[in-house]
Amino acid sequence: MKKVILAYSGGLDTSCAVRWLGEQHGLEVICFSAFIGEVKDKTPLIKRAKAAGASKTYIVDLKEEFATDYILPSLWAHARYEGQYPLATALGRPLIAKHLVEVAQKEGAEFVAHGCTGKGNDQVRLEVGVRTLDPELKIIAPLRDWEFKTREEEIEYARERRIPINATRKSPYSIDKNIWGVAIEAGILEDAWVEPPEAAYVMTCSPAQAPAKPKYLVIEFVKGVPVQVNGVRKGLVEMIDYLNRVAGQYGVGRFDMIENRLVGIKSREIYEAPAAEVLLKAHEELEGFVMDREFLHYKRLLSGKYAELVYFGLWFSPLKRSLDAFFASNQDRVTGKVRIKLDRGHAICVGRESTNALYKEKLATYSKGDIFDRKAAAGFMKIWGLPYEGMYKNRIEA
Ligand code: ARG
Repeated sequence: MKKVILAYSGGLDTSCAVRWLGEQHGLEVICFSAFIGEVKDKTPLIKRAKAAGASKTYIVDLKEEFATDYILPSLWAHARYEGQYPLATALGRPLIAKHLVEVAQKEGAEFVAHGCTGKGNDQVRLEVGVRTLDPELKIIAPLRDWEFKTREEEIEYARERRIPINATRKSPYSIDKNIWGVAIEAGILEDAWVEPPEAAYVMTCSPAQAPAKPKYLVIEFVKGVPVQVNGVRKGLVEMIDYLNRVAGQYGVGRFDMIENRLVGIKSREIYEAPAAEVLLKAHEELEGFVMDREFLHYKRLLSGKYAELVYFGLWFSPLKRSLDAFFASNQDRVTGKVRIKLDRGHAICVGRESTNALYKEKLATYSKGDIFDRKAAAGFMKIWGLPYEGMYKNRIEA
């Protein structure tokens, strides 16, 4: 029997897909699940996959790989799609694609399958990822192909075949979560005018419920990598988990945006990314402290492009790789500390310190000890303004 490796979440869609792939395509179904959010109990997931009809289930904890090879480069890139979304879901998909391909090759499978819908970006990220890494693999997307129109029809299909479905009441939203953040869509959120109900949020408290007293975090970076918070050493995953918890309590990292999907649809998205918000701010601040103006202004253009590439499913592309090399090239200077104040929904940088600082208090000061040569400023202005001298003489209308 030919094999298919299915990216399996344990939800209704992928549980039905297990059976459907067997029935419709006559394939042996092997499930693959990756933990890149909270590490859950493997046993129930394996049981559910088996009950749905899987011959085997792979479950791997990929948090470390996710943090080191996906989150860190995008932190260095200051990547936020359309200036806001720190790309949690978009970063997770290529990692899943990579492992799907690995399992397929190990199992000698001819097919891979996923539970993405036909309207989103995730199908693009997974399929382009898989095809880039192994063009021989055939891809099946049950949710684009099968006949179910509604959730109820899927539930009916599962009932008839005794496929276990989650007993707990389904959230009214579509939620995708990993350690870099959560995306919340659908339900009432589709009305662009309606404020998201508090209950829609899963990683953050309401800023109004946050502690009245602000909290200070000193984050220390060594060569671009955050290594300590308030004097305590933490690995990257641990650091992210910690910041999600602490900044989440202060309501930091909420986004409500209309975003432009690759497939042309504008969608209303709610994101929560407390750790990403803090780390991106802290890294941007420190880099701004140790790098020159030309570099910083030019980098901004590349950050926007990088976020687009990641969002558009082009993680495994030459330009994205080259940009990674660019962003990595100055990280050896990004060593120092940033002081972040968490205050009712805000993470504000209130201090920075580095032995590589290009900021010089003696140059900046308006007080005693100023070493800036003001006399030289006059000459600078004379030359700088030279090309424009008299250019619009008598042409400025009052
Ligand atoms: N719109 C976001 C993105 O494209 C979030 C997608 C969330 N995915 C999901 N399966 N709910 O990155």
